[in-house]
Amino acid sequence: MSTLHTKILGIDFENPFLLASAPPTALIESIDKAFEMGWGGAVLKTITPDDLEMNEASPRYTVLTDKKRIIGFQNIELLSHQTVKYWCDGIKFLKQKHPKKVIIASIMSPVDKTAWQTLTRILNDTPADAFELNFSCPHGMPEKGIGMAIGTDAEVSAQITGWVKEVAQKPVFVKLSPNVTNIVKIAQAVEKAKADGLAAINTVQGFMGLDLNTLRPLLDVNGRTTFGGCSGAMVRPIGLRCVAQIRQASQLPILGQGGISTWEDAAQYIAAGSDAVQICTEVMLNGYKIIGPMLKGLQHYLEEKGFNDISALKNKAVELISTHESLQKNPLAFPHVEHEKCSRCGKCVTICTESEHQALRLEDGFLNVDKTRCVGCGLCHFVCPVGAIQ
Ligand SMILES: Cc1cc2nc3c(=O)[nH]c(=O)nc-3n(C[C@H](O)[C@H](O)[C@H](O)COP(=O)(O)O)c2cc1C
Repeated sequence: MSTLHTKILGIDFENPFLLASAPPTALIESIDKAFEMGWGGAVLKTITPDDLEMNEASPRYTVLTDKKRIIGFQNIELLSHQTVKYWCDGIKFLKQKHPKKVIIASIMSPVDKTAWQTLTRILNDTPADAFELNFSCPHGMPEKGIGMAIGTDAEVSAQITGWVKEVAQKPVFVKLSPNVTNIVKIAQAVEKAKADGLAAINTVQGFMGLDLNTLRPLLDVNGRTTFGGCSGAMVRPIGLRCVAQIRQASQLPILGQGGISTWEDAAQYIAAGSDAVQICTEVMLNGYKIIGPMLKGLQHYLEEKGFNDISALKNKAVELISTHESLQKNPLAFPHVEHEKCSRCGKCVTICTESEHQALRLEDGFLNVDKTRCVGCGLCHFVCPVGAIQ
């Protein structure tokens, strides 16, 4: 029988699914409800010193859709609006009621040693299991020199990690920004400063555009807008890439996140090197109840594969990722056409012709492959609506 239990930095996780630091963890009563439903833990909405102002804009979201399904948010929300005392009391309440659930306190302060250490010391006195340093919020906070302004600077990231580590009495995860040219450099800098673990990714900075009729921004704050953080399915390949790149360079535990909507997505993050996963956007869209199918799906998958636990899946993808130079270049992956399935729609011919190679032709009602022109790129397989091309 496989188990979803996992242990990270000495902390027992009954399952690897955590709520990410975000609206689903902004209130104690919501986290309480989520724990009842089966979530393994929660990273609290980022806690800041009480005197750090949080002036929110309205509205704070726009979305990207595909056939009316939301595949991503762009948000400009800031951090927790609750006081530090609210969180201290709340953590105690939650731990008393749910002693087996993991609670991670996400924190952010101005770039000031006393401010970071004061907040850390106050939260040391709660039963939270660990800290997560938010160095990665891409909007609002960078204008104050914090959030992503920290996480895009390896030196400052290392310095603050060092300040927190001097006083922290719990493991310290650092939440990294994908909005850098080399996330590995930042990961290595904070590892050198003695971070115990990493979390990746925070939202990807983006701009959803403007309404072409009104010429107002899609995220329209009284006619103006700002760059925001993108999340949800649309950012998953970026998150997976970041986690795998970090894993290739570091053995620290990683809390992987970014666009997880299903147990399969979570499994991909584990295969890319994550020790546990965090989810925000999918919870906002479909509710805390998504945890049920996630637990069932992952458990069933582990059993089918004969894996005792998620450690058997961890890094399975990382082991397969190498340089382009090292990839085998021959033989070419020629398409095999199942003629009886082919609907002769011509989609494959269009993509092959307009993408340079001109190897596919519909001749006498049959799809023919000219192997002297085919480069085995594989695109025809993906555009075939009836699965006739392998
Ligand atoms: C509305 C919103 C608010 C967020 N607030 C925070 C925050 O306070 N602290 C933080 O570390 N990350 C915050 N995040 C980032 C999420 O924790 C998460 O890293 C990101 O959304 C990617 O995961 P997802 O695709 O599952 O949403 C926020 C995300 C959203 C969408």
